[in-house]
Amino acid sequence: MARILIGVSGGIAAYKAVELARLATLAGHGVRVTMTDAAARFVGAATFEGITGAPVLVDEFERDPLRGTYPGEAMPAHDPISHLAIVEAADAYAVAPASANTIAKLAAGVCDSFLTTAFLACAAPRIIAPAMNARMWEASATAANVAVLRERGIVVLDPAEGALASRGEHGSGRLREPGEILAAVEAAVAAPGPDLAGRRVLVTAGGTREPIDPVRFIGNRSSGRMGVALAEAAARRGADVTLIAANVDLAVAGGIARIDVASAAELDAACREAFAASDVLLMAAAVADFRPTGAADAKLVRERPGGLSLELAPTTDILAGLAGERRDDQVLIGFAAEHGGDVVSRARRKLERKGIDAVVVNDVSDAAIGFESADNEVTIVSREGEEPIPRGSKRQIADAILDRLAALF
Ligand code: CTP
Repeated sequence: MARILIGVSGGIAAYKAVELARLATLAGHGVRVTMTDAAARFVGAATFEGITGAPVLVDEFERDPLRGTYPGEAMPAHDPISHLAIVEAADAYAVAPASANTIAKLAAGVCDSFLTTAFLACAAPRIIAPAMNARMWEASATAANVAVLRERGIVVLDPAEGALASRGEHGSGRLREPGEILAAVEAAVAAPGPDLAGRRVLVTAGGTREPIDPVRFIGNRSSGRMGVALAEAAARRGADVTLIAANVDLAVAGGIARIDVASAAELDAACREAFAASDVLLMAAAVADFRPTGAADAKLVRERPGGLSLELAPTTDILAGLAGERRDDQVLIGFAAEHGGDVVSRARRKLERKGIDAVVVNDVSDAAIGFESADNEVTIVSREGEEPIPRGSKRQIADAILDRLAALF
């Protein structure tokens, strides 16, 4: 069971933080709550105190009657500095709801309350569950603050869509349900340790674009989410990560070396450059199998008697090429999106044909998983057998894949 600090900032959704505290306490976690002055205008400290069995802290100069401990624990003999002691003992710190104002302060490192001061001092996993009006969530200032926080490895949950507090307004900005927030907190607490420390992991992500002319291309629907999740998970586990991103429109956590490419040929060149210095290759990019021969130098025009036919030539199989030059101490894992049928047998044939160690396969005929979706469900096909990984967020799937990888070393 974990020690969870919940930071409640000002907003109507503060009442849902009561349910979060209740669920976390019921699940057996030790829960402490800090709230801002603004939060106290929406919900009373006595409610949290009744649920958690511990005093609520508001002011950064306040002394903690529990001396930084969590409910049920023995108190130290000395009186520590409250905001430091409470986060030092925490296994996770969840700010829920996080208002636009609090998010701005957390991004800037402002320390003007117990909540913000403790956040800056916290080395445990930090989870932010925003709640605000859709226009405030979509404002570029908020987007920039959220990007900064995510770059620092802080988990910022996307708010839910639906009816907002302001009458008649609909949009993105609702606080995630308390059960979902607790699940994110528990996932962060359970995150594995640095079992890939010292390993050099090369990840490819996204989908290549093969030019037809200067403005058009043949592409695919890969968002890069799975590859980015793998790169971030490997970095969290201590690996030295290089991400080669093909047309990926996603922010990536800090500490990852990112190389952006567009076409299969560029991806091939970047992989060849980085492969020798890698212990592991996770080839999650969706690479075009064909490219138009001789892309036009100028934009093709509509007036063309007889229409337009494109001649396509096969691209290089990057993964098979790298497997051909691998050292024995390198691990190569391919990814295959198959559309229905016996996906495992097809994955096994790819494993043999490309000469790699494993293929992670998913069935993209199921709309709930795969391309552009937040969730995935895969089977790891290796020479030893097949292992199904149950449906989960791409972050959970990434960690499950890396668990197998870490076991190989
Ligand atoms: N791959 C690659 N170079 C290519 C095509 C694919 O390196 N030109 C890699 C992908 O990144 C992936 C793996 O090979 O890790 C399997 O990709 P997939 O497209 O399923 O394999 P193909 O060999 O193209 O087989 P298919 O005929 O099913 O498209």
